[in-house]
Amino acid sequence: MAIRINPSILSADFVNMERDLGAIATADLAHVDVMDNHFVPNLTFGPQMVGRIQDVSPIPLDVHLMIENPEHWAPGYAELGAYSVTFHAESTDNPVAVARRLREIGARAGLAVKPGTDIEPYLELMPEFDQILVMTVEPGFGGQSFIPDVMPKLELLDAARKKSGLDVWLQVDGGITLDTIVIAAEAGADTFVAGSSVYNSGNPEKAIAGLRAAAHS
Ligand code: DX5
Ligand code: ZN
Repeated sequence: MAIRINPSILSADFVNMERDLGAIATADLAHVDVMDNHFVPNLTFGPQMVGRIQDVSPIPLDVHLMIENPEHWAPGYAELGAYSVTFHAESTDNPVAVARRLREIGARAGLAVKPGTDIEPYLELMPEFDQILVMTVEPGFGGQSFIPDVMPKLELLDAARKKSGLDVWLQVDGGITLDTIVIAAEAGADTFVAGSSVYNSGNPEKAIAGLRAAAHS
């Protein structure tokens, strides 16, 4: 099975962003966390910064929107060239409309759920999405501990994916380390976001290779 390692630049040095994007060139995608201080109690950056990140990144962008009103904002990230744009199920009443717009522009559409959100109501929407993100921490901050209690959601998604035959990526984000990546992979995840365990390791390239090997084990 193909696996993907997506380092989160939330743990990069924001004033050395080009350098820190270069440091993860061996990864699959650069995970870009957009926070609006409303949907989550933290603030990062918006389309102008993500546009510049897109210009200089050696690998495609996996944009994770932790914002209200994705109907308004999500298409802009697809238009600036993001490979995938993921928004939260909790932030909109019409996830299908947002997903269709993203696909129309040419981005992969992703749906994210917070740790406390049930996945069952969204299983039938699987054909509308290219990836589903199961948060393994409360969104908002890097460096938190992995919540193993959400693993049954991945098992449900993996079973639904197999039954449907759809090629939907199952992503996890939060607290991913050499140990927890094994637990998430066993539950069915194939796409792994890792911020602090990559950037705080002192050797991002080695950390990416280690995570890749652990996910395959
Ligand atoms: C948290 C973000 C994550 C964050 C993960 O809300 O969505 O992408 O960067 O950081 P770590 O890997 O340190 O938990
Ligand atoms: Zn994220």
